[in-house]
Amino acid sequence: MSDFEKLKENFKNKLDQAKNSKEVDTIRSEIFSKDGFINSEFKKIGTLPEKDKKQIATKINSAKQELTKLFNTKALNLEDAEIDERVKKEKEDVTLPEKDFRVGKIHPVSQVIDEISSIFSEIGFSVEEGPDVESEYYNFTALNTPENHPAKDMHDTFYIEENMKTLLRTHTSPVQVRTMLKGKPPFKIIAPGRTYRSDSDQTHTPMFHQLEGLHIDENITMGHLKGCLNYFVKEFFEVEKIKMRFRPSHFPFTEPSAEVDIGYRIEKNKIIIGEGDKWLEILGCGMVHPNVLKNSKINSNKYQGFAFGIGIDRLAMLKYGINDLRSFFECDYRWLNYYGFDPLDVPTNYRGLSK
Ligand code: DAH
Repeated sequence: MSDFEKLKENFKNKLDQAKNSKEVDTIRSEIFSKDGFINSEFKKIGTLPEKDKKQIATKINSAKQELTKLFNTKALNLEDAEIDERVKKEKEDVTLPEKDFRVGKIHPVSQVIDEISSIFSEIGFSVEEGPDVESEYYNFTALNTPENHPAKDMHDTFYIEENMKTLLRTHTSPVQVRTMLKGKPPFKIIAPGRTYRSDSDQTHTPMFHQLEGLHIDENITMGHLKGCLNYFVKEFFEVEKIKMRFRPSHFPFTEPSAEVDIGYRIEKNKIIIGEGDKWLEILGCGMVHPNVLKNSKINSNKYQGFAFGIGIDRLAMLKYGINDLRSFFECDYRWLNYYGFDPLDVPTNYRGLSK
């Protein structure tokens, strides 16, 4: 075996026995660096007789290729083995306590939905849901809304299909009909959820939240409605006394219909609920129209009741002193950190809602 072959075999053995990438790197530089094995052999060619030059150069080149290939394979194998080893060692101990953790916050809208649900569940209401993508029938027709009603206008409603048969619900009221159609009276439900209208300014956003209430039984009167809402508003604002007024209004799905205002005053830039001589509208309500009951397969001679629709975002703004509705939906972490709620502090009536 020539010296060249001996050296080459020697490097191959060394490479074969290398135990880590550091050793491989050392051997690599011994072979391929400027003064390494391959270059030194190439330099010797200059001193050789002309007739041997080509043959020797070919031999060095093929040795270079052979060694390069071996190197790449070895390097890859070692890398794999090292990663395996590291993964084995770096097992996470999930029982270790967290060193630096941040608690997320509950959005004021979610908080207020939980608060309202808790208040109504205390007097026997259960929670129902309906789809955001609603049919024109449930959103308008079944709710006794006449064909030419302004709410059906393309400017106010997001229609999904050109034939105007599918839309994003403009209120949570369709859940009334859906609930009644799938069950038997009595009904005592609330339905919180997202609603959509083509509107945007400081107090309107294209998506907002409502909560529908419905109580149907044999002898339900406007008196029950007033009592129920009076209880709700007091509990929600966590005050002993409340000033409330029912203003005659019109909704196609209730007869009679009313809008409810609560009394307030401003003190040192803060809104004080339940006192003062200013009025603020917070919800619409009324006695469910017989046509709605008929469309819901309920015998309106036997059963009647009340319904109401509350603007959730508006209540959240009022209770927690937030003055721009648009900020609710900007997903600004700093905002949420300031206005949000502790996730472990679930609102309940007996433990307290917001305190
Ligand atoms: N759906 C009405 C709206 O979006 C609110 C409303 C008013 C709901 C009266 C009701 C109701 O259930 O009885 O403006």
